[in-house]
Amino acid sequence: MRLDKLLSNSGYGSRKEVKQLLKLGQVTVNDQVIRIGKEHVNPEGDAIFVNGDQVIYEEFVYYLLHKPAGVISATEDFKEKTVLDLLRSSDQLKAPFPVGRLDKDTEGLLLLTNDGKLAHHLLSPKNDIGKTYFAKIDQEVTEEDQLAFKQGLILDDGYQTKPADLVILETGSNSEIELTITEGKFHQVKRMFESIGKRVLYLKRIAIAGWKLDEELKKGEYRRLSEAEITYLKQLK
Ligand code: URA
Repeated sequence: MRLDKLLSNSGYGSRKEVKQLLKLGQVTVNDQVIRIGKEHVNPEGDAIFVNGDQVIYEEFVYYLLHKPAGVISATEDFKEKTVLDLLRSSDQLKAPFPVGRLDKDTEGLLLLTNDGKLAHHLLSPKNDIGKTYFAKIDQEVTEEDQLAFKQGLILDDGYQTKPADLVILETGSNSEIELTITEGKFHQVKRMFESIGKRVLYLKRIAIAGWKLDEELKKGEYRRLSEAEITYLKQLK
């Protein structure tokens, strides 16, 4: 890949700023000062230094964001604040995108990555990867509802949902539940409850296949995934 692109993607500034660094002789590749940005380098094999600091190139980035309500799951929008706006600009350089969508008013676990293969893997309904939500419901949730969710519901557009696991945490005039689904139709959780005449008052995604949102990550905060987490998500079937 081009040296100027690699440096810019690695946080050394705009192409113009990188050009200046190169011109000043601050960049070496395999101990040779390189002043030309369009020179090609091998990010894995070449030893690239800027002012004596080694440049460690990562192709893919993976972030776990605790999405707050009020931001949309898109990469850009001319009107609304997006989940990308919550990342520091240096963490936006490799063009991460949200894996799946959470509604504007939904909170919780959102993975951001530029690894399209992993995103596809996690989202494909064929893989049966469970996404678990915590929700507050405006009425009593019953054992019959649990059974109906297990059998599959018919949504407003006629779609029959796959079996879903509904756990009742508290029930009364308002209820608290956890629901695990393996697909991600538009507004799916809300529409599943609508199909049984109930309304979701609050929704938060808390896990993907047992991989949980950290308790200590506050709304709007994010962190990088560990190697172990990336490996775990890649091997899910
Ligand atoms: N289901 C919904 O209804 N909304 C979400 O944001 C996620 C799942």
